[in-house]
Order: sequence, then structure tokens, then C-alpha cells
Amino acid sequence: MKVSIASDHAGFEMKQKLIAYLEGKSIEVVDCGPDSDDRCDYPDYAAKGCAPVVSGEVDYGILVCGTGIGMAIAACKIDGIRAANCNNTTWASLCREHNNANVITLSARYVTEEENQAILNTFFATEFGGGRHTGRVEKIMALQ
Ligand code: RB5
Repeated sequence: MKVSIASDHAGFEMKQKLIAYLEGKSIEVVDCGPDSDDRCDYPDYAAKGCAPVVSGEVDYGILVCGTGIGMAIAACKIDGIRAANCNNTTWASLCREHNNANVITLSARYVTEEENQAILNTFFATEFGGGRHTGRVEKIMALQ
């Protein structure tokens, strides 16, 4: 599996920890920045982190900010992206099964590193359910 990851300044430290965790599980990670925790704007890094998802270079994208909310709002503006802000494993499972999310956004400030690891494991392990969800996801994409 290959994933992209990006953050803003608030998510930088969590991003670095999650990169180490994922690489330790032999998941290939494309780090789309930033390279430091200098103040920056999350929409810029939402775009950088989503680009490899849109191009097909990676299977999934991960975006980290203080809450995960700003990253999700920004990412969902990008053609081809279905981003879900997940603060627990249930949401991580459902956004894959029902919504075929291809980007997950995480909170660095309100969710622990261990919880974010579990959330990512669930997200990667859950397949899209298809069936009745397929037409709904197609309608989402038609809105873009
Ligand atoms: C930065 O202070 C914060 O607003 C940002 O990381 C994110 O939580 C926005 O949704």
C-alpha cells in the first residue's frame, strides 16, 4: 500500500509520528509536507496531500491539522476527493464502507497518537461496501 500525508503546523508533529508508524508497517508514504512546524495554511497542504490521490500515485491520502475539520473541508473541494474527518474507528470504518472515502483527515490536538494509529488501521482495512452505496457515491461525485 502507498499513501500520501500532509499537515499544517498544528498537525506537523503528529504527521512525523504517523509517518514513522506507517513505514514501520512497510506502508510506503509520500510526505507532501510541510518540513517544519512553522505556521502555514491548511488549504495549501490539503491540496499538496490530495494531488497524489487524484493522480493515482497513491491508494489513500492522510491529512492532519488541529481538528481535521479544516483539512476535510478543503480536501472535499478538490475534484475526485472524498475526504472524511475521523476521530474514532467507527467513523473510519463507515467512511470506507459507505462513502468510499479516499482521504482521511485526522486531529492532532484532540485525538492521541495511538487512537490515530487505530483509526488509520481501520480505514486501510475496510473495503467499500458497494451495493446501495454505489449510486450515492456517484451522486456525490456528480456534485463536483
Ligand atoms: C490551526 O490553528 C487550526 O485552525 C487548524 O490546524 C485546523 O484545526 C483547522 O481546521
